Amino acid sequence: MSSSKQQMRLDRFLSRATGLSRKQAGIEIRKRRVRVGEELVRDPARRIAPDAAVHWRDEPVSLPGRVYLMMHKPAGLVCARRDPLHSTVLDLLPPELAARVHIVGRLDRDTTGLLLLTDDGEWSHRITSPRHGCAKSYLAELADPLPPDAARRFEEGLMLRGEKSRTRPARLQRLAERKVRVTLHEGRYHQVRRMFAALGNRVLSLHRESVGALGLDPALAPGAWRPLSETEARLLRH
Ligand code: URA
Repeated sequence: MSSSKQQMRLDRFLSRATGLSRKQAGIEIRKRRVRVGEELVRDPARRIAPDAAVHWRDEPVSLPGRVYLMMHKPAGLVCARRDPLHSTVLDLLPPELAARVHIVGRLDRDTTGLLLLTDDGEWSHRITSPRHGCAKSYLAELADPLPPDAARRFEEGLMLRGEKSRTRPARLQRLAERKVRVTLHEGRYHQVRRMFAALGNRVLSLHRESVGALGLDPALAPGAWRPLSETEARLLRH
């Protein structure tokens, strides 16, 4: 890791590195039990690099490695930490991993395809925040053929029921009479289904193919998951 990476508060670093609560970490720092390099730092808000040489009670401490996973989400599972009625995608992970990660951009229960999970909040924010405009691409099967102006209307943005602003420009590619690829740069609630509903159509099946430059690994069967390589995780950082 290089020190040009995003800096973080010392109390947050200590808490993540040791399992202390943020409050306990702050107390340890104020009690002069934490060194950054050679310096005894007493300010919990001091910003440090994630790879800084930190000692707590004279023992070196460092951040645990981050977790980045891709999953082939099967239909029927919900994207939630827990659900009173349905199994969740987190049930597919070992319990200790499930407790650690969060879901990056939810998919509907019936949607299949690429789902990302991580314990890195900055990384998931980059992917989900509309400000960053990370592309998400879906294959959809439709109940009815599309009107000739559908792609233009997706490009111009649609007013969805109950919303105050138009959807951002989205790309619609026709693959067959009732099969399309849709690429969005935002992630509103049930967005793809609602965009087709706005055209008087209905989505019969929906599958996410890619997020940014990362495509679903074709070797992953529905329900399977694997860690991302460093290169893959980096693809979505920029
Ligand atoms: N849009 C939807 O309507 N559903 C999804 O699961 C993802 C995007």
